[in-house]
Amino acid sequence: MRRFLGRRWMSASAVGWWDNVGLAPKDPLLSVTEAFIADANPNNINLGVGAFRDDEGKPLVLQCVRDAEARIAGAEYLESISRQGTLKLVEESVKLAYGENSDVVKEGSFAGVQAISGTGACRLFAEFQRRFQPESRIYLPVPTWSNHHNIWRDAQVPQRTFQYYNLASKGLHFSALMDDVKNAPNHSFFLLHPCAHNPTGIDPTEEQWREISYLFKVKNHFPFFDMAYQGFASGDLEKDAQAIRIFLDDGHLIGCAQSFSKTMGLYGQRVGCLSVLCVDKNQATAVKSQLQQIARAMYGNPPAHGALLVSTILGDPGLKSLWVKEAKVMSDRIMKMRAALRDNLERLGSAFNWEHITNQVGMFCYSGLNPEQIDRLGNEFHIYMPNDGRISMAGVTTGNVDYLANAIHEVTKSG
Ligand SMILES: Cc1ncc(COP(=O)(O)O)c(C=O)c1O
Repeated sequence: MRRFLGRRWMSASAVGWWDNVGLAPKDPLLSVTEAFIADANPNNINLGVGAFRDDEGKPLVLQCVRDAEARIAGAEYLESISRQGTLKLVEESVKLAYGENSDVVKEGSFAGVQAISGTGACRLFAEFQRRFQPESRIYLPVPTWSNHHNIWRDAQVPQRTFQYYNLASKGLHFSALMDDVKNAPNHSFFLLHPCAHNPTGIDPTEEQWREISYLFKVKNHFPFFDMAYQGFASGDLEKDAQAIRIFLDDGHLIGCAQSFSKTMGLYGQRVGCLSVLCVDKNQATAVKSQLQQIARAMYGNPPAHGALLVSTILGDPGLKSLWVKEAKVMSDRIMKMRAALRDNLERLGSAFNWEHITNQVGMFCYSGLNPEQIDRLGNEFHIYMPNDGRISMAGVTTGNVDYLANAIHEVTKSG
C-alpha cells in the first residue's frame, strides 16, 4: 500500500513514525539573532551574540591561531585521531586551570580528556555524575547559562538552584548564596562559574571565594567549575583562575570544564577540556577510562584540527605569549565599551545608576532593563537582546555606543 503524503508517495510502513513530534522550543538567543537579521535598518545592533567581535562588529581570527595554522599545515593529522594532540591539549589546559606548578599537574592526579568544547565538557561530566553518584543532584546558580539546565536535564541529573544575583543591588547576593550552600544536603554538586559569570558578569571577590570554599569543605560539597571565559574577566589568565586555585589550595577535589571558543576565537572548532581531580594517579586512571568510555559511545573521538591549533599555541612559548597579548586586547576592548556606555548614559543625564555596567566583568552586562524596555529597543531602535536584559558587550562598538546609550536613555526615561 502506498499513500500520497506531503509531496511524495510513501509506503504504509513509512507513515506515523514521527507524528508525535512537535516543534522544540526555540533557543531564546536564536530569536534575537533572527530578529536582528530580519531588520535591514542600518542602525541595527545585535547584543545577543555570545562570541567576541572586533570594533567593526566582525569576528576576529587571532594572529596566534593564524600562526599555529601555518605550523600544522601539511601535518599528517587529518586522517588519524591525533592522540598526541589530545594529550598535549589536556596537559596544557590543566596547567591553565590549576597552575603550571600545581601538585595535581605535576603528580598527574587528575583525569583529563579533550571535550567537544565547553558544552561537551559539561555534558560528559553530567553523564559521569549520574553514573557514579546516581543519588546526587546538581545545584545551578540563578541565573546561569541557560544550557546548563538542558545539559543536566538530558543527563537525567535532578537539578536544584542556589541564589546568586541580587536584583536590588545588581550585584552578588552573597548571603543568600551562602545560605543555599549551607542548606543543601551535605555532599551535593554545585556548578560554579570561576570568572566572568554568564549572564550576570558578576563574580565573587577573592575573600568571598575563600568563604565559599570553606563552607564547601564543611558541607563536603563538590565544586564543578565551568570556565568558558578564562582571561576575559580581568585580561589575566592567572587572575581569572583564582577561584579554582583557592579551592585547590583548600584541598577539594574539583571538576572543571574549559572552552577555547571565545578566548581563542575558535567557536566553530569546538575545542575544550574536562578535568576531574582525583586522590591519586590510580584513581585518575580509572576515572579517565570511564570518561573516555562515555565519550566513545556518544561521539567516538573528538575532532583533531582545533585541538592541534590550541595545543600548538599553548605548547609554544612565543605563540602562547602572543595569545596572552591578544586575549588582553579582546578583554580591554570590552572594558572600554563598558566605560563608554556608562559614560554616555551619565552624560545624557540618566536618572539611573549605571555603575553596574563597569562593575560587572567579562563579555556580558546584566543591564537590568525590563522586557518592556527591551521590546521598545527592538521596535523603535532596532537593537536586539535577550529578554533577561543581558547585553553582549562584544556587540558594542565605538561606532554604535552613542546610539545605544541614547536608545537606552530613551526607553528608561519613564521608569
Ligand atoms: C558559562 C558557559 N559555559 C559553557 C559555554 C559553552 O561554550 P562552548 O561554545 O565552548 O561549548 C558557554 C557559552 O556560551 C558559557 O557561557
